[in-house]
Amino acid sequence: MLFPFPVLTADEAAAMIDHGQTVGFGGFTPAGAPKVVATAIAAKAEAEHKAGREFQIGVLTGASTGPSLDGALAKADAISFRTPYQSNSELRKRINAGQTRFFDMHLSLMPQAVRYGFLGPVHWAVVEASDVTSGGGIVLTSSVGAVPTFCAKADKILIELNHHHPPTLLGFHDIYEPADPPHRREVPIFAASDRIGSPVVKVDPNRIAGVVVTNLADETSGFDEPTPETEKIGNTVAEFLASEIKAGRIPKQFLPIQSGVGNIANAVLGALGAHPEIPAFEMYTEVLQDSVVKLLKSERVRFASTCSLTLSQAAIRSIYENLEWFRPRILMRPQEITNHPEVIRRLGLISINTAIEIDIFGNVNSTHVMGRQMMNGIGGSGDFTRNAYLSVFTCPSTAKGGKISTIVPLVSHMDHSEHSVQVVATEHGIADLRGRSPLERALLIIENCAHPDFRDDLKGYLEMVEGGHTPQTLTAAFRMHEHFLKTGSMHGVQWADMATTK
Ligand code: COA
Repeated sequence: MLFPFPVLTADEAAAMIDHGQTVGFGGFTPAGAPKVVATAIAAKAEAEHKAGREFQIGVLTGASTGPSLDGALAKADAISFRTPYQSNSELRKRINAGQTRFFDMHLSLMPQAVRYGFLGPVHWAVVEASDVTSGGGIVLTSSVGAVPTFCAKADKILIELNHHHPPTLLGFHDIYEPADPPHRREVPIFAASDRIGSPVVKVDPNRIAGVVVTNLADETSGFDEPTPETEKIGNTVAEFLASEIKAGRIPKQFLPIQSGVGNIANAVLGALGAHPEIPAFEMYTEVLQDSVVKLLKSERVRFASTCSLTLSQAAIRSIYENLEWFRPRILMRPQEITNHPEVIRRLGLISINTAIEIDIFGNVNSTHVMGRQMMNGIGGSGDFTRNAYLSVFTCPSTAKGGKISTIVPLVSHMDHSEHSVQVVATEHGIADLRGRSPLERALLIIENCAHPDFRDDLKGYLEMVEGGHTPQTLTAAFRMHEHFLKTGSMHGVQWADMATTK
């Protein structure tokens, strides 16, 4: 039931948004992201630019979005600033060319930063719904993201009512916003499946400026099949966690898993699900991928708490066709809650995320290629890694056809420090860094995780360093990176002059 809200076209909705305003878009990944209003804003921006007028908006989101949001706005040069995470190639190009102002934020912190006023006023919330009641109850679709905060803070709200998602999704969301200091209390989640909030986002209906009706699938893409390399990483991590249960360092009933996005994450989850010594487990994570749907169906995953259903069309269809079976097994929460440090620590999550590069001392770069080019952003990796019961980072040992070693003397940008990173795994093996000194960590990572073609180079670096708690040489720490930038490969780096330069 739409009324009493005006039913608008996307162009009519976009016409209300002015240059210089900030818009909080719903969604978390392309799942649940609005699909038509942003494209209409992009068209408006192009028309304004043609007429010689300025038009740009500040863009807040939950995380990455789809091509019809980030892609369209970036192409139209319609973004004045963007946070907290993106993965769109067009937008990335503009960010790395210095044309779009982007700041990378921990996803758990973004909603409170909006509430605290750190990011300025929010003029509009544009959110996708599967249903909306005349009293202002919004039933979200395949994600929650930062929608509760955007709706609470924005002057006006525009809703894309997307009939592709069934209104019977009512009950799959648990909407809860913590009070702000000095009145904040505990977040009362004591098990991954605990419900603490409302099934709908409640807003003052007078702030709903209009509803745009759509019928569009999420712009999510599927994932590639596991490769021998990703399978090896998956099996290594599963074997390691099974051995930790045996050693009594992980409780025998296991602990909830957080897993990042991408093909390695899918392979790790597949391997955990298949391991005979790992009991059926729960997920407390921010993104639910296809592999988890399979594990839910086979009852290897008992329950999944997530911020989004970032699924292939086939996987989401299989949920929507069996909603009643999935209802007691999936719960979507705001990113502030899925990624909340207090809850992560209380539940004792095992976090498994992917790195761009890892240094021999255990520092991790999740975001920048060669220290400079933004890939996507830190996402939730920092929220989970810093607070996990056990934090694991995975990556292939090389990138770009073997020319780059992902294990380096010093990360070219640091997102997660040696203090938070406990376990590192590549297709060559695993390094358990707990209780190890920097030199011990370096030897373990080189021996167990680096590609054999780069082990001598990395050892050569260490051998040239004398003394110090962390055997690092500032003048040569980035030599492998420099060598790549000069020659297109990290192979053949020389350390011989280090003795004089250190
Ligand atoms: N140097 C240069 N390029 C590198 C690299 C390195 N050390 N490591 C990876 N890359 C490149 C790959 O070649 C690939 O490039 P392409 O897109 O041109 O093919 C790209 O980075 C992505 O790497 P890929 O191996 O496909 O991994 P992925 O899709 O699993 O992504 C991250 C890896 C790190 C970019 C991704 O996990 C991420 O954005 N992480 C941060 C957010 C996060 O961890 N969230 C966690 C909670 S969901």
